[in-house]
Amino acid sequence: MRSIKLSSNYEMPVLGLGTWQLKGKSCKDAVKTAIKLGYTHIDTADAYDNHVDVGKGIKESKIERSKLFITTKVWTTELYHKDILKNTQRFLEELQIDYIDLLLIHWPNKAIQMEEPFRAFKELIESKKVRSIGISNFTISHIKEAKKISKVPISINQVEYHPYLNQEELLQYCKENNIVITAYSPLARGRILEDSTLKEIAKKYNKTISQVVLRWLIQKGLIVIPKASSESHIKENLEIFDFELKKEDMNKINSLDKNQRFVNPGFAEF
Ligand SMILES: NC(=O)c1ccc[n+]([C@@H]2O[C@H](COP(=O)([O-])OP(=O)(O)OC[C@H]3O[C@@H](n4cnc5c(N)ncnc54)[C@H](OP(=O)(O)O)[C@@H]3O)[C@@H](O)[C@H]2O)c1
Repeated sequence: MRSIKLSSNYEMPVLGLGTWQLKGKSCKDAVKTAIKLGYTHIDTADAYDNHVDVGKGIKESKIERSKLFITTKVWTTELYHKDILKNTQRFLEELQIDYIDLLLIHWPNKAIQMEEPFRAFKELIESKKVRSIGISNFTISHIKEAKKISKVPISINQVEYHPYLNQEELLQYCKENNIVITAYSPLARGRILEDSTLKEIAKKYNKTISQVVLRWLIQKGLIVIPKASSESHIKENLEIFDFELKKEDMNKINSLDKNQRFVNPGFAEF
């Protein structure tokens, strides 16, 4: 699996399995199937309430721990230093692992001083419970504040990113600051699957729309974490490393932006 070197110096695979809304047996089976097919990166969060199922899937797949990259996230109301230290210990037990590859702040929360999570993150890195840290749903102004406070490199900003929400300005800012963007909802939760421009491009390369969109994102330097529950979707999303989109097609997809968000909870500070 192709990877990107993070500012923490660890490598992160460019494709991972998203697990939002996967729970119980279907979650465990999706994780096992993905690992069997060649995925080495799983994305979860405390808020998804599926750490135990993800952990079972990993354990049953019998993959070596060092071959896997596991991301999880601390919830927005639990960003106090003491909560993060306590909860991270719980995450390790639920996931049945002894370190987390990447720990993210799930959403910014202006009611809690940013020193709190970043102080905890530094300690977790020092105690080797966490390898890399990052943020999620942070705008440029949130990142500017975080950069002033964090004593450890911020490796990742995980945000909604797909052809209908092509956040070029944020991407440019993150690149300039050595922060890699992970694209969540890369398939726009299915809403891009009928797009006529994407259909035309997919036909030209003999690929599916999902594969074209995931390829467009990795060619732009992002990491992608499509969620899929069926074996056929999980497999299809992995088959994106055997073709390359031409510049003219990259540009066509770049121009589909509608500034359209599909994930926007009431508390978001966009
Ligand atoms: N940090 C955050 O705040 C945040 C927010 C949202 C999401 N995320 C992360 O990002 C991951 C992905 O985002 P998402 O779950 O919102 O949406 P998504 O990955 O854009 O879309 C998932 C949907 O697409 C379908 N699908 C997957 N592969 C397909 C294919 N090859 N062809 C056709 N349909 C396909 C899935 O169906 P099946 O399940 O039937 O296969 C599912 O209905 C999440 O699971 C989560 O890990 C993070």
